[in-house]
Amino acid sequence: MSNSSASVLILFAHPALEKSRVNRALMEAVRDLDGVTFHDLYQQYPDFHIDVDREQSLLRQHRSVVFQHPLYWYSCPALVKEWVDLVLEYGFAYGEGGDVLDGKHWLSAISTAGTLRAYCEKGSNQYTIREFLRPFEQSALLCNMRWLPPYVVHNSQQISDPELDRAAENYRRLIERLRDRPDVSVPAGQHSYINKWLEQEPAGGN
Ligand SMILES: Cc1cc2nc3c(=O)[nH]c(=O)nc-3n(C[C@H](O)[C@H](O)[C@H](O)COP(=O)(O)O)c2cc1C
Repeated sequence: MSNSSASVLILFAHPALEKSRVNRALMEAVRDLDGVTFHDLYQQYPDFHIDVDREQSLLRQHRSVVFQHPLYWYSCPALVKEWVDLVLEYGFAYGEGGDVLDGKHWLSAISTAGTLRAYCEKGSNQYTIREFLRPFEQSALLCNMRWLPPYVVHNSQQISDPELDRAAENYRRLIERLRDRPDVSVPAGQHSYINKWLEQEPAGGN
């Protein structure tokens, strides 16, 4: 699981993986990539007893951090919140001497049952995904990290197999891009989702 020369750390969190279709497909597309550490938080910590030293050591070893999870109540599953609360300590992630995460990427890769149209001012959820993710964006900024627009797979109950295959393939391309171009910059102001940016990027381009 852990690879000391890896550049991308995927913090994967799904409380009911046996029922998952979308995150399972995304997971299978990336978990064996070279240079990527796939870290399944619910598998590691089913009792929520997070090993903070181990998690901080993983963070030190990687240049990009990806939080992959389904959207739960417009936020993350509980273990991700617990992880953030415990691992991103003062003096480590922020505050005096807290410079370990400086310049690393923070990417949220999430799935939602709601459609893209439901996530806007006039939609049933009233707010965009970017608005719901603001606590994460600001946490990344506090830690002096480089926040990337999120990778989002909507409409999880209705998405067709070919669409899901494409979403998983694109996710794999994105993770490879982060691995191979650790200095990649995606203006968060120009792209609400990184999915759009990825479509414009030439395949394998540098
Ligand atoms: C407890 C719970 C809360 C959820 N909250 C939301 C939500 O706020 N917005 C949304 O669009 N979908 C919500 N969903 C649906 C999940 O996001 C959706 O089932 C998941 O993204 C599908 O991915 P999977 O196939 O990997 O499980 C929720 C599901 C559960 C079980």
